[in-house]
Amino acid sequence: EQQTEQTAGRTTNTLTPVLTDIWADEQSWKLDTYTRRGGYRALDKALGMAPDDIITAVKDSGLRGRGGAGFPTGMKWSFIPQDNPKPKYLVVNADESEPGTCKDTPLLMANPHVLVEGVIISSFAIRANKAFIYVRGEIVHVIRRVQAAVAEAYAAGHLGKDIHGSGYDLDVVVHAGAGAYICGEETALLEGLEGRRGQPRLRPPFPAVAGLYASPTVINNVESIASVPSIVDNGAAWFASMGTEKSKGFGIFSLSGHVTRPGQYEAPLGVTLRELIDLAGGIREGHELKFWTPGGSSTPLLTAEHLDVPLDFEGVASVKSMLGTRALQLFDETTCVVRAVLRWTEFYKHESCGKCTPCREGTWWLVQTLSNLEKGIGQESDLDLLVDQCDNILGRSFCALGDGATSPITSSIQFFRDEYLRHLTEGGCPFDPARSTLFA
Ligand code: NAI
Ligand code: SF4
Repeated sequence: EQQTEQTAGRTTNTLTPVLTDIWADEQSWKLDTYTRRGGYRALDKALGMAPDDIITAVKDSGLRGRGGAGFPTGMKWSFIPQDNPKPKYLVVNADESEPGTCKDTPLLMANPHVLVEGVIISSFAIRANKAFIYVRGEIVHVIRRVQAAVAEAYAAGHLGKDIHGSGYDLDVVVHAGAGAYICGEETALLEGLEGRRGQPRLRPPFPAVAGLYASPTVINNVESIASVPSIVDNGAAWFASMGTEKSKGFGIFSLSGHVTRPGQYEAPLGVTLRELIDLAGGIREGHELKFWTPGGSSTPLLTAEHLDVPLDFEGVASVKSMLGTRALQLFDETTCVVRAVLRWTEFYKHESCGKCTPCREGTWWLVQTLSNLEKGIGQESDLDLLVDQCDNILGRSFCALGDGATSPITSSIQFFRDEYLRHLTEGGCPFDPARSTLFA
């Protein structure tokens, strides 16, 4: 809620507050507040449409998955085989856990009803009568808030039998995860939802064909589903008029680290980090940007050279990184890049689910080699060893977690090789940790 205040109400040419517009309202999370702002209007409109027309509208809008991968949302929905007699399911991935990513959590706290309305419209479009919202286990306050919003929606007749007299029925279950990063991987999430240990399944088949209980299932990120009511309400052309040619619309960019006003900034895709830093009051006074992540720690690091890269799927890919979750973690010159990368690598080692050898064993070895380098007790050849270890994980792991673990390592060696070597020549970290506010 503190972050809400920081962002809310700011209207500049760059920001496009749609999902965040309500955040500064008193009790923004309540049904009354949401309804006063026009909430559940799109639902009436959607229930008067043919489900396929909703899918077409979402396709035409150009909305791409906001969980990180950017797969076209409408296309994913159209993969649901409607001639399959099995029940269809919608599952919302609210297991946000990528280091630095903090967009779904504040959205669910400040505006849970936009998700609930999106769930109803999306379920209607794919002809599902049951939907699940899978919320990260550690964020108990968010689970409670989403549960309360779902209960309000039931009491108001937005959920349950014969919604708004349309004859359409939908039940929504809010499910609490058990606190594992891997359960944000969509098939591990399904395993967890079915009551098993969360480990990824082989794809294909993709969930659209055989997902929850082997039935056709759409799994989408919170922000993707929350964007649907505004698309139905304002039209596909409105959404497509924002953003860039292949990355349409707006998204929530979360800025954290050494920036004056950290928080969530909702802006069109294609905005640059330079523009966002300006909106956030600049890098903290007296300091300058050293490195940053475009989409959390699984996306290769970038530097001050990349301030003008358009933050859309293509722009970030053109500099060999990934837009990912738009988790912009900013680090100034007081931060030791080796230490930051070691911290992230420890995270991946801890969260590796253990199913495949390259990631299970490899992340352990990465931590050993990196921590020797960080302590200044390694040797120069350890840098080549580290790159070799990454080569043996990248592309050889069962899921994206293993690949992601290598991103901060290889990119930091590419940009900051000298800083790694200084740890060896100076017999330890050349940075005074007390000067860094992040890792002190
Ligand atoms: P992916 O590109 O394999 O798949 C993306 C989506 O498209 C999935 O829902 C998949 O089922 C669907 N899809 C792809 N090809 C398909 C086909 N031929 N038929 C039907 N459906 C198809 O990406 P993945 O592995 O699901 O996600 C990786 C992304 O997750 C990364 O880009 C990363 O940014 C993000 N991520 C997000 C985190 C968070 O906390 N939000 C945490 C870690 C990673
Ligand atoms: Fe599990 Fe890592 Fe293999 Fe993914 S890459 S299946 S997290 S061990």
